[in-house]
Amino acid sequence: MNKLITTFLILFGFLLSGAAADTIKVGIIGPFSGPYALQGKNFKAGIDTYVADHGSKIGDHEIQFVYRDLPLTDPAQSKSLAQELIVKEKVQYIGGFFFTPNAMAVTPLLKQGNVPLVIMNAATSTIMTQSPYIVRTSFTQWQVSYPLGQVAFDKGVKKITTVVADYGPGIDAETAFKEAYEKAGGKIVQSLRVPLTTNDFSPVMQRIKDSGAEGVFTFLPAGPTTLSFMKSYVDNGVKAANMRFFAPGDLVQDADLPALGENAVGTLTTFHYTTSHDSAENRTFVEHARKAIGKPEELNFTAVGAYDAIHVIYKMIEATNGKKDAEKAVEAVKGMSWMSPRGPVTIDPKTRHITQNIYLREVTKAEDGTYYNKEIRTFEHQDDPGLKNAD
Ligand code: PHB
Repeated sequence: MNKLITTFLILFGFLLSGAAADTIKVGIIGPFSGPYALQGKNFKAGIDTYVADHGSKIGDHEIQFVYRDLPLTDPAQSKSLAQELIVKEKVQYIGGFFFTPNAMAVTPLLKQGNVPLVIMNAATSTIMTQSPYIVRTSFTQWQVSYPLGQVAFDKGVKKITTVVADYGPGIDAETAFKEAYEKAGGKIVQSLRVPLTTNDFSPVMQRIKDSGAEGVFTFLPAGPTTLSFMKSYVDNGVKAANMRFFAPGDLVQDADLPALGENAVGTLTTFHYTTSHDSAENRTFVEHARKAIGKPEELNFTAVGAYDAIHVIYKMIEATNGKKDAEKAVEAVKGMSWMSPRGPVTIDPKTRHITQNIYLREVTKAEDGTYYNKEIRTFEHQDDPGLKNAD
């Protein structure tokens, strides 16, 4: 009899522990050290804000984030970090990725690992075509650069030189801007592609001045490189020569505005997010995310990509009830719509990329002396034109 009771108690205890919380791990890869550490810090601030707002549990499942540092572009290292996360850490989801080549490198692992990837930044359109298990909550260079072509032409600028970093998002930005600008009636007089690691832009500035253009369009990855480009544009007298400047918002990321100051005033860019976006959702987000990041002036666009990525991952976990089923997880978020701090968004069911408003902004000095990207026009509900012919 005693034995029976003991067996019963053991069985009961087992059942109880079976029903108790399990842990679902989410692996996050991003630049948490080195020259782009600000972006990794913003990924983490976005994630921490989402968890602070919504809790760390979904049903009985406790969500745990496992971070891996990848400072620069290093596809081989990216792949081995993702492999380690999937095999050793047994993560059920992977998120993050600031640089395109790092995101590209992990796409072959997703199907065999049965793991969805939610991209928080990497902005080359074609990443999405590499695997059906990718969802992206950031933006693409096509999405932000295309509307700018018409804007530049409407400003009366008829000849432009383009300068882009010579890799995926740079080539997308150059192609998108050129297509829209030439369609509007403008002429690209020179297209410069510079190595990703370029830091001295004086020779580029000279070539811009010599090109006979009336304006410049530029994409470089947001960070020390963009800051040095913007400074060089002023120091080499290109701004003073009345050369109009057009760029996606990467070039005047919010976190760089205090350093750019007066030199950036008047700069026109197109982008999906600025911390000054005027909505109730964004005011709450900014208040919470500034607490999470610690230094309020460091809050940047990369935080909102991360915040929304976790919204998507939470929905995936809910839809699969914590089970490892990448196909079902991705299926569950296709067509999903919500109000992001950036405005209304939808996961395009065909491309799995985020459809969103793109804003034209002008760097403006506020009454309190600080600088911000003032939204002056909205291009509503933009999908990714770079994926039009995909699939
Ligand atoms: C990218 O590598 O996809 C990338 C990096 C930085 C940006 C935008 C895109 O600002």
